Amino acid sequence: MNQPQFIYRYGLLILLFNVATACAQNSPQTPHEPALQRIAFGSCSNPRKPVPAFLAIAQTKPDLMIFVGDNVYADTTDERKLRRAYQDLGENPGFRHLKEICPILATWDDHDYGLNDAGVELPNKVTSQRVFLEFWEVPKDSPRHAREGIYGAQMFGPQGQRVQVILLDTRYHRDQLIPIPKKEREKLPGRYIPNPDPDITILGKAQWAWLKEQLAKPADVRLIASSIQFVPVDHGWEGWMQFPTERTRFIELIRSTKANGVIFLSGDRHHAEISRLDEDAPYPLYDITSSGMNQPGGESNESNRHRVGPRYYHTNFGLITLDWNKPAPAVTLQIIDPQGNVQIEQHVPLAELATPR
Ligand SMILES: [Fe+2]
Repeated sequence: MNQPQFIYRYGLLILLFNVATACAQNSPQTPHEPALQRIAFGSCSNPRKPVPAFLAIAQTKPDLMIFVGDNVYADTTDERKLRRAYQDLGENPGFRHLKEICPILATWDDHDYGLNDAGVELPNKVTSQRVFLEFWEVPKDSPRHAREGIYGAQMFGPQGQRVQVILLDTRYHRDQLIPIPKKEREKLPGRYIPNPDPDITILGKAQWAWLKEQLAKPADVRLIASSIQFVPVDHGWEGWMQFPTERTRFIELIRSTKANGVIFLSGDRHHAEISRLDEDAPYPLYDITSSGMNQPGGESNESNRHRVGPRYYHTNFGLITLDWNKPAPAVTLQIIDPQGNVQIEQHVPLAELATPR
């Protein structure tokens, strides 16, 4: 081989090697990435008070922790006060320990977004987004910085054991709620009534288009963190039920994209429960609500036609356990108290969470 031939062949080899290495690095998951087995989640924590749930979560040795909103009680549009609230969380010893032992993802709800029950109308929401992404250490090159709203998604695990985490933003674009009319207040529970207007939105146009793309991606389990409850329809507080057209649209999107493995994770309500939607759904849609990590709401007799199992009123967190090794892989949904006792449990074979082909 003469010298020019040698340089050409050797250069080509180096080029091919570099391309292969770059492709491997850019892949969303490597074949050796371990499958997630335990995913903890929770909502409604006020770090100005002790949060024993953080230590209890750490004891379950989760592979991932998801904060599903009301992660701090800032209740302000003042940037300094908002930063101060996050600083309290950042300095909480239980939170710091949790950060050391597992990756953390987060979305927000009203109290960390800005104001109680706030939506599209919130002033200074651009600042709220910037402070949120900074505190939760969302990488600078993440598209979450460029969007209107903090929604985002991430894949974990190898093919066949792939978990997609979808973090919805149910605040930034959410249209106004309709308060219960004065003369109805004695008769109806909660604070709001469903808005039948088909043109109002929770997610906004861009987030809907993004969600459709996400649901079309292959995954074995999809954990959809929606700060507000998706399945329950009987209370008058915030939830997808107050936007019935949007709720139906979501169910139809799951059906049309044939997105299997959907499980909703919600918070906000100051109690815990598991709900399951059977009718008008492509397959049973579970919504596990954990709230709050140190903000319990106390006992009440709220009805929920979709509730499975009991309702839990005290401090709690959620744990999703994936058993990939059985011949029929399954997921266990649990609500756990800070002493580590399981208060609510639901076992679901993954094969049940699929649109009939
Ligand atoms: Fe909330």
